[in-house]
Amino acid sequence: MTKAGRRPLVAGNWKMNGLRSSVSVVEAVRNGLSPDLLCDVDVLICPPSTLISSCVAAVYGSPVAIGGQNLHAKRNGAFTGSISAEMLADLGASYVIVGHSERRAYHHETDDGVHAKALGARRAGLCGIICVGETQDEREEGRTLDIVRAQLAIGVPKGATGADTVIAYEPVWAIGTGLTPTPADIAEVHASLREMLGQLIGPEAAKVRILYGGSVKPGNARELMAVENVDGALVGGASLVADDFLGIVNAYAR
Ligand code: 13P
Repeated sequence: MTKAGRRPLVAGNWKMNGLRSSVSVVEAVRNGLSPDLLCDVDVLICPPSTLISSCVAAVYGSPVAIGGQNLHAKRNGAFTGSISAEMLADLGASYVIVGHSERRAYHHETDDGVHAKALGARRAGLCGIICVGETQDEREEGRTLDIVRAQLAIGVPKGATGADTVIAYEPVWAIGTGLTPTPADIAEVHASLREMLGQLIGPEAAKVRILYGGSVKPGNARELMAVENVDGALVGGASLVADDFLGIVNAYAR
């Protein structure tokens, strides 16, 4: 299910879950991945920042990547409690989630802030996973495409490439609810995002992976990942259980 030469990415976002004992989940994922499958799909886990260092150690020598869930846009300075892209990279992280809807909702992150953070990620050599998505009300008002295209237009930095940028479409109403859009709805949004990316960054748009996120489970992953322009998944709850996460990665088994 590689589409147009884009290598799929299955990413787990643990959110604010996990203590040191949870590193065993990362070990179980690492051990449970079949070498065949890893030729076809990139696998990433984004634990809380307290666990990045031990998770990086746990995947050492394996193709599983570790990422952050958030960053401060600046390199360093008097920003108590914040973590910069350089700090994440220093720990061995290679990706960072930017502008997750929970950050937008609970921490008032704006599209301009997302843009600054995406630039910060690039500065430190991290791949930024820029999240976009509409709320239930916005969908019901028929504004889904306007919302996600505007989020993309402001959030994605000039000169973004397939190597330093991933987009994740996560409808807010599908996160943690067990609800998902229909494959046709997802196809419509992803096609629109790809078209908007083309306006923003030209032909490089064809190389940028666009993930779907929101209630992805082993039981629906194959159907969702088969949708046109869906280049992988951003997984919340199901990434906390190694067998469930592996079940989603296995949607890419031939
Ligand atoms: P769920 O998979 O739990 O719906 O969460 C999706 C998400 O927010 C991933 O970033």
